[in-house]
Amino acid sequence: MKGILLAGGSGTRLHPMTLAASKQLLPVYDKPMVYYPLSTLMLAGIRDIMIISTPEDLPQFRRLLGDGSRFGVRFAYAAQPSPDGIAQAFLIGRDWIAGEACALALGDNLIHGDHLSALLRNAASGQAGATVFAYQVRDPERYGVVSFDLDGNASEIVEKPATPTSNWAVTGLYFYDRQVTDIAARIRPSARGELEITDLNKVYLESGLLRVERLSRGYAWLDAGTPDSLLQAATFVQTIQSRTGMLVGCPEEVAFRMGFITADDLREQARHLGKTELGRVLLGLADGVFG
Ligand code: DAU
Repeated sequence: MKGILLAGGSGTRLHPMTLAASKQLLPVYDKPMVYYPLSTLMLAGIRDIMIISTPEDLPQFRRLLGDGSRFGVRFAYAAQPSPDGIAQAFLIGRDWIAGEACALALGDNLIHGDHLSALLRNAASGQAGATVFAYQVRDPERYGVVSFDLDGNASEIVEKPATPTSNWAVTGLYFYDRQVTDIAARIRPSARGELEITDLNKVYLESGLLRVERLSRGYAWLDAGTPDSLLQAATFVQTIQSRTGMLVGCPEEVAFRMGFITADDLREQARHLGKTELGRVLLGLADGVFG
């Protein structure tokens, strides 16, 4: 399975912070925002990843991430000239996807929790259809919202409903089978002029091929699209890391734990991080000092 990391858009809700910088490169505590969804894709076992951003911001992503070899993965890069919708990622990536199954992670989403890797690997295991994740939130009207019937099956998905019929938001992490590029090509722009990811998910739902995994309260799902949610995400990462000494959303760690890089490779990466706390924790990991 391949994976797309979508990191474009204009980040208007974070102006003026995003007037001269990509939202997904802003810091979330001690790492650039894009590291968190990148770690999620890698935890699913995905090693071929396309990064899509604006033509202006793409060079900064290349500078940060390179060809992926230091994380034991392969990066491809593509530009989205204007933010015409999340589902457009599959049209931009169509030739690169080359008829394979493909996941999509939004560059401003952070998911953290126990046994996440098993959940993600299951979603990436190549079953027919699509898998999305739902999370209970206080403000569902800000998101794609999924409702369930009495048997617990997903019955409806609506993008930013004015009066939500459930409080289950669809998170920005999606796993699709090999039909995805053909289905995306059939989607038409919504009233706001975007190719909506919710419309893509509706096609799978209506064919009975959409699995919706409900994330329990043991998981944290955060997006970082507003000043408040950016600060909350940073505080969350800082709290977990300083309390446990374990890292959240660190691709070097994930690469090591997934067997994409060796302990020597990890030591090398830790050295590049110099005297930072992150570098210290990674060195400890390579030396078997921490979990
Ligand atoms: O965060 C989960 C939510 O993401 C889902 O519940 C919604 O169904 C989905 O539509 C999306 O809602 P948002 O309001 O968060 O979408 P937004 O336009 O903010 O885009 C999400 C990210 O994708 C953001 O980091 C920018 C990037 N993006 C967005 C669009 C529309 C692009 O790179 N290109 C685009 O064309």
